[in-house]
Amino acid sequence: MGKNAGMTDAPTVLLCGQWPATEAARWRQALQRALPEVRWCEPADLQDQPGLASEVSIAVVANPPAGALTGLPNLRFIQSLWAGVERLLADPTLPPRLPVARMVDPAMNTAMAETAAWAVLSLHRRYFDYRQQQDRAEWRPWPQRRADEVPVLVLGRGQMGTAVARTLAGLGYPVTAWGREDRRGALATGSARTPDGDEALPVHVVAGPQALQAALPAHEVVVNLLPLTPQTAGLIDAAFLAALPPGAALVNLARGAHVVEHALRDALDRGHLRHAVLDVFAVEPLPPDSPWWRHPGVTVLPHAAAATDPRSASAVVAANVRALLEGRPLAHLVDRQRGY
Ligand code: NAP
Ligand code: GLV
Repeated sequence: MGKNAGMTDAPTVLLCGQWPATEAARWRQALQRALPEVRWCEPADLQDQPGLASEVSIAVVANPPAGALTGLPNLRFIQSLWAGVERLLADPTLPPRLPVARMVDPAMNTAMAETAAWAVLSLHRRYFDYRQQQDRAEWRPWPQRRADEVPVLVLGRGQMGTAVARTLAGLGYPVTAWGREDRRGALATGSARTPDGDEALPVHVVAGPQALQAALPAHEVVVNLLPLTPQTAGLIDAAFLAALPPGAALVNLARGAHVVEHALRDALDRGHLRHAVLDVFAVEPLPPDSPWWRHPGVTVLPHAAAATDPRSASAVVAANVRALLEGRPLAHLVDRQRGY
C-alpha cells in the first residue's frame, strides 16, 4: 500500500481483508482519503518490511484470514468493516482483551431497510408468484390485500432491525420487533413504540423467548436481523417454523446459521411456508449444486442485502481511529463475551 511511507511518526494502520482485487482497490482509496494522516499498510508490506509489524497500532479488517492479527505486538484496536463479527471473534488467535469495534453505518441501515421493504412488498403483493406466472405465460391476478393485513415480525432490534421496523411500519405493515431484553429493564410486551422509544410509529416491541413463542403464530412474514451468537444459531428450526401460520414467509438477511436448513426445506416442501427470501447461507458463496438455487419457493440473493459501502464506511472508520488517537471513547465496541 505504502502511500504514506515516509510519515514515520504517523500511526501505522494495517488494512486486512478478503476481497476481490477491484474491491480492495476501492477500500484502499476510500480509507486513504478519509484518513490521510496515518500510514497505511497491508499484509504483504509486513512481509516485505521487517520491523513494520511492531509499528502497527490499529487494524482495520474485513473478515481477515485466521491468524492475520498475530505478531503485532503494539496493536491497540481492531475496527471491523463488517457489521456482524462472529467470524472475526471465532478466530482463536485474535488478540484477547483488545477493543474490537464493528461497522455501524447509517447508510448500511438504509440499504438493509430497502432490501427488507422490497422483500416484504414482494411477498405481500405476490411479485414472486407473478414472476413464476410470467414464465408460464399465466394471467392470474391474486386478491389485493392491504399492508395493514400483513403482520411482520422483525427479529433483532439493533441498528438493522430498528431501521427495518421503522421502514415497514411507515409502509403500513403491523410490525412487531423482537429483542433479547427490554432496554429499560422490564420485559416489554404490549407496548407500542419503536425499538428506541420513539412513539411516532406503531411498532410493537417484545422481548425474550416466551414473547417470541407467543408472537410467531400471529405473523405472516418474519424478517431475521439477529447477530449470530451461540444463543441465536439454529433459532429458526422446525418448531419455530411450525409455530408460524400456514402460508407464512421467511426473509433471512442476517446469517445462514440462524436457520436449520433441512427444517426450512421441509416447511417449504410441505407448503406450510409459502416462500423464503434468503440472502445468507451456511456456506457462501452458495455452491452451484445447492438445492436453494432451484427451489421454486426460494428467492436467493448473494449476501447483498446491505454491503458495507467504502464511501460512507471509511468516514466511520476515520472517526473511530481519530477517537483512539485522541484518547476519546470508541464507538460501536463489541462485547466479546456476548458475541456481538
Ligand atoms: P446490533 O445493532 O448489534 O443488533 C442486534 C440485535 O439483536 C439487538 O437488538 C440485540 O438485542 C438482538 N439480539 C442479540 N441476541 C439476541 C437474542 N439471543 N435474542 C433476541 N435478540 C437478540 O446488530 P445490527 O447492526 O442490527 O446487525 C444485525 C446482524 O445483521 C449482524 O450481526 C449481521 O449478522 C447481519 N447483517 C447482514 C448484512 C447482509 O448484508 N446480509 C449486512 C449487515 C449485517 P439487545 O438490544 O438486547 O442487545
Ligand atoms: C454483512 O453481512 C456484515 O455483517 O457487514
